[in-house]
Amino acid sequence: MSTGRIEFSSKFGIIAATVGSAVGLGNIWRFPYEAGTHGGGAFLICYIFFVFLIGVPTICAEFTMGRAGRIGIPGAYRLGHSSRKWDFIGYGGILAAFLILGFYAVVAGWTFEYILESVTGAFRDTTSEIRHAHFEDFISGWRAVCWTILFLLVNAAVSLGGVQKGIERVSNILMPLLFIILIAFCINSLFMPGFGDGVSFLFHPDFSKLTPDVILSALGQAFFSLSLGMGCLITYASYFSDNTPLVKTAGQIAILDTLVAILAGIIIFPAVFSFGMSPAEGPTLVFEVLPGIFNQMPGGSIWSTLFFILLAVASLTSIISVSEIVVAFLSDEIKISRTTATWVLTAVTIVTSTLCSLSFGPLKSTNLFNIFDYVSSNILMPLGGIGVCLFVGWKMKIEDAIGELHQKTGVPMWLVKIILLIIKYVAPICILTVFLAGLL
Ligand code: PHE
Repeated sequence: MSTGRIEFSSKFGIIAATVGSAVGLGNIWRFPYEAGTHGGGAFLICYIFFVFLIGVPTICAEFTMGRAGRIGIPGAYRLGHSSRKWDFIGYGGILAAFLILGFYAVVAGWTFEYILESVTGAFRDTTSEIRHAHFEDFISGWRAVCWTILFLLVNAAVSLGGVQKGIERVSNILMPLLFIILIAFCINSLFMPGFGDGVSFLFHPDFSKLTPDVILSALGQAFFSLSLGMGCLITYASYFSDNTPLVKTAGQIAILDTLVAILAGIIIFPAVFSFGMSPAEGPTLVFEVLPGIFNQMPGGSIWSTLFFILLAVASLTSIISVSEIVVAFLSDEIKISRTTATWVLTAVTIVTSTLCSLSFGPLKSTNLFNIFDYVSSNILMPLGGIGVCLFVGWKMKIEDAIGELHQKTGVPMWLVKIILLIIKYVAPICILTVFLAGLL
């Protein structure tokens, strides 16, 4: 049935855009430091468990809502009924989108600075103290704000191009590039002296590290990395065609996203061990530790440049998808044009991300960056995930959900039943338990 809504033009475009949304700073910046500070292998096991047991069915739930409704949030929460009772979950997603854009654009902006500095060889012969001081100095100042704004303008340019000529076209080019760079790094990693130690740190589980906090972090990381729980995939699925296989696409996203996170670990940990550094460095791992490591390698500036290009590319395709939630909302519900919607969003995010960026400097006492990150990833995304599952499992007509998951694409009925069972009971209970345990 044609609804007149714009659709992605190809299967490849759909995978590139959705995987582009999932693969981002979450995989390359956040996953290694989360795994590094939470005991490596034990964290990885929890993470994989959440990605496949809870994540894939929740992606299916988001896809079901988006394609059935052909509308983003909160409209998708009115599917099959006309009351606005469920709208608040959609608005929670829009709030989460603003918060994520606020802090994400800041880190994305840093990648531009680090590309530039890598090209000019600024890290050559620096000590870790010098790099630390430099990083602290850079992130607390206005230069970081300028890069963040530049990043948001690039994002606006893509968004102005629209679904096919902006989002899809850019993803089609950037995602293959991302995989090529990743593979080059992995091959390089194989030859590092610390390869064995790095890989065993990542894959060897230390279960004594499994506290409720680690488990909540693994769940939060799974949701963040899969772009779940805030309507991003609902919005993208509203541009799917009737013959897009929802379950298969959900599986492909989960596999590719996890693969990239693991590859990022395989790139980063061997390097960290080869040069006698600690993997538990935290958020500064990739910005302070890696440039030093690269510069001790032959062809250091090139590797360093490539790494930060990788990070910039990954951030851009993700940020585009977060923006699309808001742009789709403004054009679907408030009925303003894509162009106006994009500029409104960009103007607001320039303000919020400037504040976030300055919370490393003059606005330190506000701690805004960490608050935005914590509230969106550890609170709004899990709650949004529960909301999506409850809506699809309990409110939406079961025939409609089966129509999307089974009839349109011929996935075997037993599999659809298992997925719906998880959406209805397992996922909401599991998310709620982990959420409460972690908070308490
Ligand atoms: N999944 C992205 C990442 O891993 C972040 C993101 C979150 C993107 C939510 C869209 C929505 O970096």
